[in-house]
Amino acid sequence: MEQQLKELQNQALEQIAAAANLKELNDVRVAYLGKKGPVTEVLKGMGKLSAEERPKMGALVNVVRETISESIEEKQELLEAAAIEQKLAQESIDVTLPGRPVKQGGHHPLTRVAEEIEDLFIGMGYTVAEGPEVEQDFYNFEALNLPKDHPARDMQDTFYITPELLMRTHTSPVQVRTMQKHEGRGPVKIICPGKVYRRDSDDATHSHQFAQIEGLVVGENIRMSDLKGTLDMFAKKMFGEDREIRLRPSFFPFTEPSVEVDVSCMCGGKGCSICKGTGWIEVLGAGMVHPNVLEMAGFDSNKYTGFAFGMGQERIAMLKYGIDDIRHFYTNDLRFLKQFSVHE
Ligand code: PHE
Repeated sequence: MEQQLKELQNQALEQIAAAANLKELNDVRVAYLGKKGPVTEVLKGMGKLSAEERPKMGALVNVVRETISESIEEKQELLEAAAIEQKLAQESIDVTLPGRPVKQGGHHPLTRVAEEIEDLFIGMGYTVAEGPEVEQDFYNFEALNLPKDHPARDMQDTFYITPELLMRTHTSPVQVRTMQKHEGRGPVKIICPGKVYRRDSDDATHSHQFAQIEGLVVGENIRMSDLKGTLDMFAKKMFGEDREIRLRPSFFPFTEPSVEVDVSCMCGGKGCSICKGTGWIEVLGAGMVHPNVLEMAGFDSNKYTGFAFGMGQERIAMLKYGIDDIRHFYTNDLRFLKQFSVHE
């Protein structure tokens, strides 16, 4: 029996050594150590042995078993390491190959301008408010002191979806919505950036879709001088410390009094093609919030006053960067856009 076991062990070790891969090795394991394998067979035959021989044989069987299984483990490690080696060799990359360049995008000039304006007003304590582009007639017009059939509705030729639903013509409805949320309690201090739509024919200075940024401040004792100071600060930060502003009387149904605001031209007042010889460039509309607008949004107009202003982002960008055609913003010519994709 002892002889039988020795032979078995030698045979197994030979086969383990010959196993070329993990599968073959596993076959050897099953063949020798499995339930139906020869080692188990030998164990079964132990019943025939005498009482002194039995523990001796038992110990020997265990040694043989362990020797085989250790040998299998060693071989397994070897085979696994070889498999990894092989895989690595197959997957090796040539680090000297030139990489594929990834084209980097940049900010759109309108995004840059909007962010710059937002930052400026956030620095003065404003928060940014946004609202829907498909808007109710009520918010876009009626709550802004523009009842149905008001002649001033013609100032903003409108894309209607239904008689009550339209593409907003300005971002002022966001101001109404925000005032409503305040439920008659001030202060309100917001700027509203966003896309707006008007039935215009596209040309160098008109676009049926453009972007505005409007501001609203409502509180106690808010005066015209606050508006003027705010816009003066805005002009200087946006266009340069040497710039001045000028207010001209105007009309908007939602503000009283209303003004158009000009910024002094970069030519320093001498007159050039940008300011058409006048020394001034019109940049925005503004005014003191009309008491009707305050009341309709739930504010007591005896207690609260406010100012509002609104400008076109394209117009500001055109003046700041010297762009001569509004259509450049929307035709996505990379030669144009790349000039603004500075990576900070
Ligand atoms: N909402 C006006 C427009 O789009 C601009 C504006 C805003 C004027 C606020 C005055 C006050 O024409």
